[in-house]
Amino acid sequence: MSISVVILAAGQGTRMKSAMPKVLHTISGKPMLFHAIDAAKEISDDITVVLHHQAERIREEVESTYENIIFHRQDAKNFPGTGGAMKGVHTRHSRTLILNGDMPLITKTSLEALTSGDADINMSVIELEDPSGYGRVIISEGNVIEIVEQKDCNEAQLCTQTVNAGIYAVDTALLERYIPQLDNDNAQAEYYLTDIVKMAVDDGRTVHPVYVSEEEFKGVNSKLDLAHAEEIMQRRIKKALMLAGVTMRLPETIYIDCRATFEGECELENGVRIEGAAHLFNAHIKAHSVIEDSHIEHSDVGPMGRIRPGSRLVNTHIGNFVEIKKSVLNGVKAGHLAYIGDAQIGEGSNIGAGVITCNYDGKNKFKTIIGKNVFVGSDTQLVAPVCIEDDVMIAAGTTVNKNVEKGVLAISRTPMRTVKNFFYKFFGDK
Ligand code: UD1
Ligand code: CA
Repeated sequence: MSISVVILAAGQGTRMKSAMPKVLHTISGKPMLFHAIDAAKEISDDITVVLHHQAERIREEVESTYENIIFHRQDAKNFPGTGGAMKGVHTRHSRTLILNGDMPLITKTSLEALTSGDADINMSVIELEDPSGYGRVIISEGNVIEIVEQKDCNEAQLCTQTVNAGIYAVDTALLERYIPQLDNDNAQAEYYLTDIVKMAVDDGRTVHPVYVSEEEFKGVNSKLDLAHAEEIMQRRIKKALMLAGVTMRLPETIYIDCRATFEGECELENGVRIEGAAHLFNAHIKAHSVIEDSHIEHSDVGPMGRIRPGSRLVNTHIGNFVEIKKSVLNGVKAGHLAYIGDAQIGEGSNIGAGVITCNYDGKNKFKTIIGKNVFVGSDTQLVAPVCIEDDVMIAAGTTVNKNVEKGVLAISRTPMRTVKNFFYKFFGDK
């Protein structure tokens, strides 16, 4: 790989109206900046991220997931603007691709188009009905002559509908030469990266426009853009999965995290949400169920089931209104209305309606271990820590607060009594 990548992510992102840095807002479960880094990693082993606003927070977040990313701190006070962001950045390879951290929809194919060919600079351009806000690109005989920022445009330039999408592949030696020469003699008193185009043209260099899709290159600046980008990303994820054999009923109503993986024959009904790095293998997830960071194998869940992080279901049936958290269930049935947290349940066991693991005493969490072939009657409370051995029957309504040994019936029940004619005394004779 002979391409270096610089990702500009120093901007404040004011229009997001958020305390969280713009590039950390997520699309399909992954921060926007990570989408850009992942695209960059496909073509480069030398990636620099330029930071300024909330630099430490972003850096920590990136370092928790990636290795070998170089960070550069922009001196935004003295050198504001996209050109200022490149000041002091030095890359290893002969070509440098400059990306924006807020373009999560960029694909490897587009990056390859930008980095191919023999022009000294390739720059991304889009044709827009409404070019407002973008730098206008002046093209003559197939070559770019100049980029003029909107605030610096004359009347004629303002009408240009060819705009700068903000991504460039530049000969590194030229970049090293031009960046120190940038000035801030413009309407915004910023150092414009775009000015390197005019410098190159004046030097007799070639600058080629690479026409790219608006969908991929329109940056995310507001929560509205974020929602649009999410829709596009979701459509992409689901299309790829359906083509790979996942059945989806009404896919427009389904949400799938970009880190989720599928194997075998899986079916997702309408309204299903799959979060985190869930892995589904021959799984049937019924309507309006939520699966979070869990492994579901040869099992069915829902409708309206919720499987919370760290769970592992194998050969298991989970019915409606059942919540499972950080539990391992192997060959289990839990058909209705239950909470199973921090538990381990063995093959052939049945969890009745209304069964609750009392896994939290207000301070700490405790485990519930249930063996094989255990019949847990309806409305049982399992007060953890507790261990139930194989072949046990627990009567409905029992509060299990001590370990239960193999083969027994466990029952805790206040004797029931009846009061004659109570109804008529209370409501009167009719
Ligand atoms: C820039 C281009 C404009 C183009 C537009 C496309 C310049 C001068 N103008 O506009 O021609 O149409 O992108 O989106 O380059 N950033 C920094 N440091 C800064 C300023 C920005 O790192 O001081 C980063 C931002 O985080 C962002 C990217 O650079 O990722 C683009 O910044 P933005 O302010 O959106 O671009 P404009 O200057 O408006
Ligand atoms: Ca700006």
